[in-house]
Amino acid sequence: MDATAVWNCSQLVTLAGPARARRGAEMRDLAVIPNGAMLIHDGRIQRVGTRKEIEAAASGDFEVIDAGGRVVMPGFIDAHAHPVFGGTRADEFEERMQGTTYAQIAARGGGIRSTVRQTRAASEDELLAAARRYRGWFLRGGTTTVEAKSGYGLSLEAECKMLRVMARLNEDANVRYIPTFLGAHEVPDEFRGRMDAYIELVVEEMIPMVVKEHLAESCDAFVEPSVFPVEKARVVLEAAQRAGLRLRLHADQFTTDYASLLAAELGADTADHLESTSPRGMEALDAAGVMPVLLPASVYAIGAAHYPAARKMIEMGLPLVLATDFNPGSSPTASMPMVLSLAATQLKMTAAEAITAATVNPAYSLQRGEQIGSLEAGKSADFVIHDCDDYRELPYFFGRDPALAVYRSGTCLYKFLQNS
Ligand code: NIG
Ligand code: FE
Repeated sequence: MDATAVWNCSQLVTLAGPARARRGAEMRDLAVIPNGAMLIHDGRIQRVGTRKEIEAAASGDFEVIDAGGRVVMPGFIDAHAHPVFGGTRADEFEERMQGTTYAQIAARGGGIRSTVRQTRAASEDELLAAARRYRGWFLRGGTTTVEAKSGYGLSLEAECKMLRVMARLNEDANVRYIPTFLGAHEVPDEFRGRMDAYIELVVEEMIPMVVKEHLAESCDAFVEPSVFPVEKARVVLEAAQRAGLRLRLHADQFTTDYASLLAAELGADTADHLESTSPRGMEALDAAGVMPVLLPASVYAIGAAHYPAARKMIEMGLPLVLATDFNPGSSPTASMPMVLSLAATQLKMTAAEAITAATVNPAYSLQRGEQIGSLEAGKSADFVIHDCDDYRELPYFFGRDPALAVYRSGTCLYKFLQNS
């Protein structure tokens, strides 16, 4: 028996619509079916409709998933995360909350370089065990796909170790990881003052290895004057592009329009962060078809107040994506529901806009729009039953992870144990 009917959903939030990322007013249309249902066959969605239609269509032997009168929607797709790392930085967090800035900690060798030291010191198995633990956090938030960046190894060996951990996570057939190579995340300790020599290592050794071993689909770089200035990042990104990798950039986190223009020029899939982007940078992204990935939890967790201009971007027709940026420094959360809450209160996005930016839009940003991101016939049955009666409760009841059950390809990965 490989057929399953999902019914008794107060709302089936399908996000059915054009086969591309949604922009402007389209972001507010979730194609909700009240009292909706769906039929799954061999892990794929066969049909979506009202309960009546699905009951009539279901025949023979089939299993039933009763959603208990709750909201059912696609699994979240977290399109920007750093989910493999050694150690934590709870000590730096405490310091930062007392006034030391993220930049000051980075300048004295902490920050990313602190995690690099801890990641290098960890064995592949230790990193895998930690990443599996964090995977549980993604799942409990209702996330079924995570874009996963390397960038805490910064040597050929340690970058490959991180990327192998992601491949091993995928062997578990649990949350789906889409790996991105982030060799240009920082200049490691042993190359301080020798950025060009480090870039040579990235270009001559790391990128060829990543491509040869199929360890990543995309390449990212932290483009900032104090980290990798535009002209240095360009060397890495152009080499990656020539080698067949796609591009996603850490852009304009602290410096206005510094990297968004580069993302546009290189035709990157995404420009991520954009806290400091001006209308000029946004226009460049729009003209080049680069999708903005906004990371409000990283603004929140560094205790800053400079959130990206989401409303302006939506007005301009940019197809927004929201992600956690889960990492041990600037954003220690794997919770997409938390991101949805921040999207509402800080970015002034409606619940529908935020849900579009957390499902179908990230799927297209990752070249997966044909397979995941909405509940439509032919797509993978990646869905979540949330403890909500109305999807607008997702950003409204905050500080909880509302997933009651999470399914990937029709298989249950997580079930909340309720005692009432
Ligand atoms: O997306 N901006 C650079 N990289 C991460 C931070 C990583 C870290 O602090 O470890 C980010 O915020
Ligand atoms: Fe990041």
